[in-house]
Amino acid sequence: MEEQKLRSAGWFGRTGKDGFIYRAWMKKQGVPSHAFDGRPVIGICNTWSELTPCNSHFRDLAEHVKRGVYEAGGFPVEFPVMSLGETLMKPTAMLYRNLASMDVEESIRANPLDGVVLLCGCDKTTPSLVMGACSVDLPTIVVSGGPMLTGKHKGKSISTSDIWRFSEANRAGQMDDMEMTLAEAGMCRSDGHCAVMGTASTMACMVESLGISLPGNAAIPAPDAARKIMAQRSGFEIVRMVKEDRRLSAILTREAFENAIMVNAAIGGSTNFVIHLLAIAGRIGVDLALEDFDTLSARIPLLANLQPSGAYFMEDLYYAGGLPVVIKELLPHLHRDCLTVNGKTVGENFATAECYDTNIITGMDKPFNVLSGVVVLKGNLCENGAVIKPSAASASLLQHRGRAVVFEDIDDYKACIDDPDLDVDETSVLVLKNVGPKGYPGMPEVGNMGLPAKLLAKGVTDMVRISDGRMSGTGFGTVVLHVSPEAADGGTLGIVQDGDEIILDVHRRLLQLNVPEEEIAVRKQAQKQRTNGVSRGYVQLYQQHVEGAHLGADFDFLRGRSGSEVTKDSH
Ligand code: FES
Repeated sequence: MEEQKLRSAGWFGRTGKDGFIYRAWMKKQGVPSHAFDGRPVIGICNTWSELTPCNSHFRDLAEHVKRGVYEAGGFPVEFPVMSLGETLMKPTAMLYRNLASMDVEESIRANPLDGVVLLCGCDKTTPSLVMGACSVDLPTIVVSGGPMLTGKHKGKSISTSDIWRFSEANRAGQMDDMEMTLAEAGMCRSDGHCAVMGTASTMACMVESLGISLPGNAAIPAPDAARKIMAQRSGFEIVRMVKEDRRLSAILTREAFENAIMVNAAIGGSTNFVIHLLAIAGRIGVDLALEDFDTLSARIPLLANLQPSGAYFMEDLYYAGGLPVVIKELLPHLHRDCLTVNGKTVGENFATAECYDTNIITGMDKPFNVLSGVVVLKGNLCENGAVIKPSAASASLLQHRGRAVVFEDIDDYKACIDDPDLDVDETSVLVLKNVGPKGYPGMPEVGNMGLPAKLLAKGVTDMVRISDGRMSGTGFGTVVLHVSPEAADGGTLGIVQDGDEIILDVHRRLLQLNVPEEEIAVRKQAQKQRTNGVSRGYVQLYQQHVEGAHLGADFDFLRGRSGSEVTKDSH
C-alpha cells in the first residue's frame, strides 16, 4: 500500500518555530527524537477515574495498549476524558453522556493523533467515547475493561441484578440490614464492570458485534491475563489500521448496525442499547430507526443464558467461549461480509468459534427463550414509540389491561409508593411521568420502579410499569420504557390520570390509553408546562437541544460527522 502522509505530520513533521514548539514540549516527558520520524501517533483515550470504580484498572490497561503500539512501530500518547461513573453521578450519568462525547470529539480532533484506542467500561463510557470518535472518524479501536468476577454471598453467586431482589426483600422484611451489608461486601469482588448482561456488558458486546473491537473482546473478565493481552493486541492493531487508513465509517455501515441489533437480541442485552446505538448511528450518518430494533430482533431467539434474562454471569460466558460463539450461531442471519477492525470480515472472524458449555450458550434449534431483544410499542400513549424487553418480563403480563396509578414525578413516586392507603392492587399499571430526557432532565434509570410495599408483602413480584425513563440493564420486570414523546414534551403520558385504563399488548405492539381522543385533547389543552428552574450552564443547553428517546437522546446539533480536519492554526 502506498505510504500516506499522516495527520500528525501537520504538527510533528513541521520545520521552523512551529515544529520546534510541537516537539520540544513533548520531549520534556522523555520522548526521544525518533518518535517524531513520521510513525503513527496513537491516542489512548482513557476513562480511568476513582469515581468510576468499574474503570479503576484502566491506567494499567493503558500500559498494555502502549506495549502493542510500540511493538507495531507507533508512538502512543495517553489522554484523559470525562469519565462517567454510573453509581455515583447525580442526577444521572446519562445527563452527561453527550457532554463526555463532546470532550472526546474535541480532544481527538484538536490533537496530533492518527488513530485512537478507546478504553471503555462502565455503562456510559462506551457510548460517549464511540459517539465522540464517530464525529471525528479516524481509525479507532475499542478495548473494553471487562466484567468483574462473579460476586458471592452466603455461598451463592450474586451480581448487580440481585440488588433489585435484595432491595424488595429488605422492604418486605425478608432480609435484614445486617444481611444487606454482608451482600454489599460480596457484590463487587474485583476490577471490572457489572458482571451480568447489564448495560456495560451490552455495550462491550455491541462494539464487538459492530466490528470496532477485536473478536473476543467483550467477555474476558477484567482481572484475567487475557484482558491485558487483548489490550496489547489492540494497540498493535490500531497502528496497522492507521497504515491501511481503516476508519470507523468503513466499518460502521448500516449492515454492521443490523448485525449488532441481532446479536443484542440473542444475548438479551440491555434496553439502553437502543438509545445508545441510535445515537451512534446518528453521529456516523447511518439511517437507523427505532422500528429496526423490533423488525431485526423478531427473528432472533435468546441464545445466551445470562442474568437478568437468564441465570449465569459474564465470567461464565467467557468460559463457555464468549460472544464469538453467539455470533457464529447467528451467522446465517448476519451480514457476514461486514468489515471489522482487524481487516477481516465478520464471517472470517467468527466462523470457527467453539462452544464449551451449552448451558450458557445454545444453538438456534434449542433457544432459551423464543422471545428476545426489544419490542417497539406504538399507540396513542407513545406516538413515537416505547420499548419493552420481553425476555425480562412476566409472560402473564405481556397482554394486560389495568387501571393507572399515576406518579407525577420521581419525588411523588417516592412519597406515595409505600403509603398503605395507596389505591393499588396487582392488576394496576404504575405510571411514572417526567423522567424523560427533558423532564428529569437526563432520563434516569428509574423505569423499573419498585412495587408498593403492601403488594410485596402479599408476594406480588411483578406489575406493568410505564415511564418515559430508562431501566438499568441489570433490571427486569414488565417494564415499558422510553415512552416518546415524553411527558415534559407534550406527550400523552403527561395527561394520564389515576384510574384511566391502559392496554398493553406486546404481541400486537400496542400501548394504548383507553380514553376518548376528544378527552385527551381537552386534557392536553389544560396541561400546564412544568419548569425546573434551570437557566444556565450545561443543563440548560441539554434541555434546549436533547432529542427524544426514539432518536437516541443526542443533541440536535451533533448529528452527522464533523471530520478530523482542523481549519484554523494559531502557530
Ligand atoms: Fe459500572 Fe454497572 S456500575 S458497569
